[in-house]
Amino acid sequence: LHGRNRRLTIQPLSLTRICSTKSIVSVNGIFPGPTLYANEGDRIIVKVTNRAQYNITIHWHGVRQILSGWADGPAYITQCPVQTGQSYVYNYTLTKQSGTLFWHAHETWLRGTVYGPIVIYPQKRYPFVSPYEEHVIILGEWWKANVEDVETAALQTGGGPAIADAYTINGLPGPLYNCSSTDVFVLKVKRKKTYLLRIVNAALNTELFFTVANHALTVVETDGDYTKPLLTNSILLTPGQSTNVLIKTDQPIGRYYMGASPYMSASIPFQRVPTLGLGTKPCDANRTSTANITASMSNISLILPGIALLQAYYFNISNVFSADFPDSPLNPFNYTGSPPNNFTPESGTRVNVIPLNSSVQMVLQDTSILGVENHPIHLHGYSFYVVGQGFGNFNESTANFNLVDPPRRNTIGVPVGRWAALRFKADNPGVWYMHCHLEIHTTWRLLCQMEWVLVKRYHLRRRTFLLVEGRIRNTFVHAVN
Ligand code: C2O
Repeated sequence: LHGRNRRLTIQPLSLTRICSTKSIVSVNGIFPGPTLYANEGDRIIVKVTNRAQYNITIHWHGVRQILSGWADGPAYITQCPVQTGQSYVYNYTLTKQSGTLFWHAHETWLRGTVYGPIVIYPQKRYPFVSPYEEHVIILGEWWKANVEDVETAALQTGGGPAIADAYTINGLPGPLYNCSSTDVFVLKVKRKKTYLLRIVNAALNTELFFTVANHALTVVETDGDYTKPLLTNSILLTPGQSTNVLIKTDQPIGRYYMGASPYMSASIPFQRVPTLGLGTKPCDANRTSTANITASMSNISLILPGIALLQAYYFNISNVFSADFPDSPLNPFNYTGSPPNNFTPESGTRVNVIPLNSSVQMVLQDTSILGVENHPIHLHGYSFYVVGQGFGNFNESTANFNLVDPPRRNTIGVPVGRWAALRFKADNPGVWYMHCHLEIHTTWRLLCQMEWVLVKRYHLRRRTFLLVEGRIRNTFVHAVN
C-alpha cells in the first residue's frame, strides 16, 4: 500500500494450511494483508470496503494520530462497524513517529486473519548502523476452525482461551507442522551483512518468543520508537507489541531456524469469576455474552455501548456512558503471592475523563486472579513511557523509577503479580480505548476497559513531555484482573 490510492478490500479468501482448507476473512485477497508503507509525517487516506459477511473496522495500532479520533477504528468506541457492502475512509496524519506498527480489524475476533504491517520511515537516518536490507516479520496464529466460531465457543463454554492450531511467521506455519513442509517463510540473506528485522506480534491470544538460531539480536526500536540498544538472543512480544532488531549474518553459510514459540502452551489455568447475569451486550444483539468469566480493570468490566462513544460525546447523546471510571480499584486488594479475593467487578460503560495536556501517571497492578499470563495492556492514540516495574504491591515510596531513558511503548505486558508504571502527556484529545490485547480477555466482557475522553477543546499545542520535570497532575493505580 504505497502512495495516494490506498485501498483495503475486506473479502473472503480460501487458504490451505496444516492439512485443511478454510475460508478466511482477508484483505485484498492476500494473507497476511498488505504492508502499509509511509514516511514520517505523511497524510494517510485509506478507503476500506467491506465485501465480507461480517461487520468490521480497521485500527491503526500504535499510530499517534492527532485530532483524528474518528480514524482510530475500534468498533463502538470511535465508530460503528462498517457493514457488508459499505465503505469507510480512514484519514489521518502521522506525527513525528517512525518504526514498525500494524493495522488490524477491531471488531470481534476478526483480527485473527485481518492484519498487516505498517512501516513508517524516518525523516532522518537511523541512529544505528544502516542495514543492508530490511524485512518485515509478522507473527500470528492459525486456527483450523473459523476464528469467529472459536470466539463463540470460548464464550459458550466460559472455558480457557482455545489454543491456536499453529503459530505463523508471515502467515506460514513452517516445516514442523504436518502438511506444512512448503509453507515456510524463508529469508535469504548474504553473509557478513547487517539486516533490520521489523517484527510484530499480531496473534490474538499468545505471547510469543522470537529467536534466530545461532544469531544475536540487537533491539533498536519498540512499538514505533527508538530505544537504547539491547543485545539479546531472543525477544518476547505480547500481542500488540512490535520491535525492530538488527541481526548480523556472521555465522557460516547454512540454514538457520527462525522460531516463534508461545510463552505458554498446553492448557492455561484460570479461575472462574461469578457470573454477573448481565446477558447480551447492548451493542450487538447477535453476540452471545454469557461467559461466566469476567475480566476487569479496577473492578469495572466494560459493556460496549450501542453507539460509538466518540459519537455520543460529539453529538451530546446522553445515557451512553458515565464519566466516573474510578481512579483506583473499587475493592482494595493486597497481593501477597496468592491472588486477592476480590472477584466482584461491576459492569458498565464508564469513562475516565482526563483534562487535556495533563501529565498522567498510571500504575497497572496485575492481581493475577485470571491466570498466569501477563496482561498486555494497550492504549490507543498514545505511546507511554514505561518508567518502572516491580514485584508485588506497588509502593510509591520504594518504587524505583527510570526517568532517564525509559522505553516508550503502546502495549505493556503487565506481569502476573507485578506492577508497571506508565507516564504520558494527555495531549491527544479524543476517546481512546485502553484494553488488554489478549482478545479472549476482551471477549470476557472483558478486560481493562478504560476508555477515556479527553474533553477539552480540540486544540493542540505541541510540547514535549518533560519526563522528569513534568508535574504529575493525575495519578491512577488500576488493578488488572
Ligand atoms: Cu491493537 Cu484496541 O488494539
